[in-house]
Amino acid sequence: MNKIIGIVSGKGGVGKTTLCANIAFSLAYAGKRVIAIDGDISLKNLDIPLGMTDKSVYDFTDVLSGRCEIEKAVVRHDDCPKLHFIAAPQQADPDSYNAQGFARLCRQLRQTYDFVLIDAPAGVGKWVRDIIGCCDECIVVATPDLTSLRDAQRVVQLISDSGDPPSRLVINKVSPAMINRGYLQNVDDMMDSVALPLLGLVPTDDSIVIYSNSGKPVAGSKSVCAHPFENIAMRLCNHGVPLDKYWRKNKNK
Ligand SMILES: Nc1ncnc2c1ncn2[C@@H]1O[C@H](COP(=O)(O)OP(=O)(O)OP(=O)(O)O)[C@@H](O)[C@H]1O
Ligand SMILES: [Mg+2]
Repeated sequence: MNKIIGIVSGKGGVGKTTLCANIAFSLAYAGKRVIAIDGDISLKNLDIPLGMTDKSVYDFTDVLSGRCEIEKAVVRHDDCPKLHFIAAPQQADPDSYNAQGFARLCRQLRQTYDFVLIDAPAGVGKWVRDIIGCCDECIVVATPDLTSLRDAQRVVQLISDSGDPPSRLVINKVSPAMINRGYLQNVDDMMDSVALPLLGLVPTDDSIVIYSNSGKPVAGSKSVCAHPFENIAMRLCNHGVPLDKYWRKNKNK
């Protein structure tokens, strides 16, 4: 079934945009039709890890306010034809978008695409609530530190207030060495604190920053960091991909 999936977090900088771009590539490489929407008005940057900077003339508020047809705002990735993108505006007049219009746009896109991925801004503001309200499913992203996990709990509360779309947790920037030394909680405790099932774990790795900055996907590359993103994408397709052997070994420590 086609799905609208929001990628959300309480704390900023936890890796939503990186995750959104890499699962978008992974799903498209797996043959799914994918559209990634940058929902981060004013702080848009999904175009960077997608390698689609300067491709968009129009953004989603242009569609919502009737300044352009939807087809003009949708741009196709040059090297990955099943992956499409809609930009966010750099600045937006509050009259040019609203929750109902955005939800309508997402539902319309869901008729064409297997996955409509929305890269949300951080936090618990009204626009984040509006995004959650139009999703079939949410991915809550957190990093292993207590501040991020506590902020993720606040987002889980928002999700529950928005009618409880099914939600799963991705813990990004995980350092197995820090967990093993006892400086961070183990993964079970992280899951318990946020009270969500685990969708995946992504290690902290400088190569992810290097790939992102060059507009190249980690997913599909030879980097060891490709697998966590690809596995998350497969789980979104309901394939039962077990956690990597390494994580299984460390999960209950
Ligand atoms: N697993 C990782 N290992 C190392 N660096 C990472 C990892 N994931 C993301 N990063 C880096 O962390 C920074 C923040 O990532 P990103 O922009 O994806 O976060 P975000 O949650 O979208 O931020 P914001 O809340 O500001 O939108 C970027 O420099 C990105 O390259
Ligand atoms: Mg972001």
